[in-house]
Amino acid sequence: MTAIANTPGRFRDLPGPKGLPVLGNLLQMPLDRFHLVLEQWAEQYGSIFRVRIGPHPLAVISDREAVQKVLVQRPNGFRRTRPLEAAAAEMRLKGVFAAEGDDWRRQRRVVVAALKLARLRLFFPKLAVTVGRLQQRWERAADSGEPVDPCRDLMRLTVDVTMQLAFGVDPNTLETSGPVIQRHLDKVFPVLHRRVNAAFPYWRYFRLPSDRALDRALASLEDEVGEMVRATRERLAADPGLRVSPTNFLEAILVALEAEDSGFSDAEIFANAGTLLLAGEDTTANTMAWMIHHFMQYPEHFERARREVDDVIAPASAVETIDQLERLPFLDAFRDETMRLKPVAPVALLEPLEDVVILDHMIPKGTQMAMLLRHVAASDRHFGNGSRFDPERWLAGSETAGCPHDTRAFVPFGAGPRLCPGRNLALLQIRAVIAMLCRNFDLEPAGSPGAVTEHLAFTMLPANLSVRLRRRQHI
Ligand code: HEM
Repeated sequence: MTAIANTPGRFRDLPGPKGLPVLGNLLQMPLDRFHLVLEQWAEQYGSIFRVRIGPHPLAVISDREAVQKVLVQRPNGFRRTRPLEAAAAEMRLKGVFAAEGDDWRRQRRVVVAALKLARLRLFFPKLAVTVGRLQQRWERAADSGEPVDPCRDLMRLTVDVTMQLAFGVDPNTLETSGPVIQRHLDKVFPVLHRRVNAAFPYWRYFRLPSDRALDRALASLEDEVGEMVRATRERLAADPGLRVSPTNFLEAILVALEAEDSGFSDAEIFANAGTLLLAGEDTTANTMAWMIHHFMQYPEHFERARREVDDVIAPASAVETIDQLERLPFLDAFRDETMRLKPVAPVALLEPLEDVVILDHMIPKGTQMAMLLRHVAASDRHFGNGSRFDPERWLAGSETAGCPHDTRAFVPFGAGPRLCPGRNLALLQIRAVIAMLCRNFDLEPAGSPGAVTEHLAFTMLPANLSVRLRRRQHI
């Protein structure tokens, strides 16, 4: 990681906040604000320091170069943390996100193929229909004057999209008023976040009500995925052509499962179906919710985005083509600036597979490391006036203003071999939904904008965000 010119410093000599005996810094780090506390300490202790969560030491790193090097040296040099792998395995969700080594390579291939750009282009008409359903849902909210919780509505959209693309079924949760699959998915991230960062695996000895609710949710999710797998098997049996050119992830993984020596198991099918649902749901929905929050905070940017959308797509018409969505540079700049300052993954947790020197300090094999991705991206060293929300910086010419603009410090989708395989799907959904919002609605905060806070529950969401929508009057 660093050329060993001098003897590297010892891990235990790193600076860091003082903790309590046994508990270490545990009580100073409330789980929903974990990232904020680490970022604050990074200001005090520098780009590498140590904390302790109960018996577990944690190296906290916020140096751009070190972060990049760690991310790209996977899967051989670094891995996701063992507590994540164990927690995911206990939830029967050890799919591509939590897998390592050869298991990861095998699963990654199928997932990447299922989400590739060419497939997204074919899928676009279905995405447009789904965005139209969200528009109608929001028109009903606008007509009734009822405030909207953007995170919840957007999660209905992202789950509908992922299930259509990856599983070939349309749950249409956007137009369902009764219970929907999201009620099971909602239970997973908060418990996963708690277990990954726990000082002690209490759930192996006693179950809290939330652990029991999770068990029930996972059982129901398995039933729902089992039903989809059964339907997919029937489709494959009825149409042998699908074996040659599978049209979605479930078809592809079932074909792979039947191949000799594929190594895939039924358990991996559930684990990866669940992983795709979870990985695609909150991340994309929360990113769009943060954009809505920023539109309300900066109405001048909302106006500019609307003018741009109006120029490309006739007002009040449906989005016609994927190409139109690719001609919205300000909207893309606004999205990137939102992801720079409000990334849904502000921290990445990893660990080295061997002893390694990082920033002149020896990090022993297996030590958990928190990489402060947002702290790096918000630093003045990498982006001029880094904490300022300024979409303009992403537009051509920003680099010439003499300010730093180091895009290597901007990794909202991760980096290296484990870069998010859903990135293109996420970007497409964001463009389609936000363009629809710009064309059709006025926005007004339904609560106090100051009450919106960052809440970490595996992903970072805007807590207390509530919006009153009005139909936009086209002159
Ligand atoms: C704005 C939306 C999204 C953001 C910000 C995001 C962010 C991320 C990040 C930071 C990672 C970790 C990457 C790394 O370790 O270097 C990741 C991994 C992953 N994401 Fe996304 N993601 C988004 C949407 C999606 C979607 C829509 C899907 C699929 C439906 C998806 C599927 C995955 C999967 C399967 C992984 C694990 C990849 C691996 O470990 O090899 N993501 N994502």
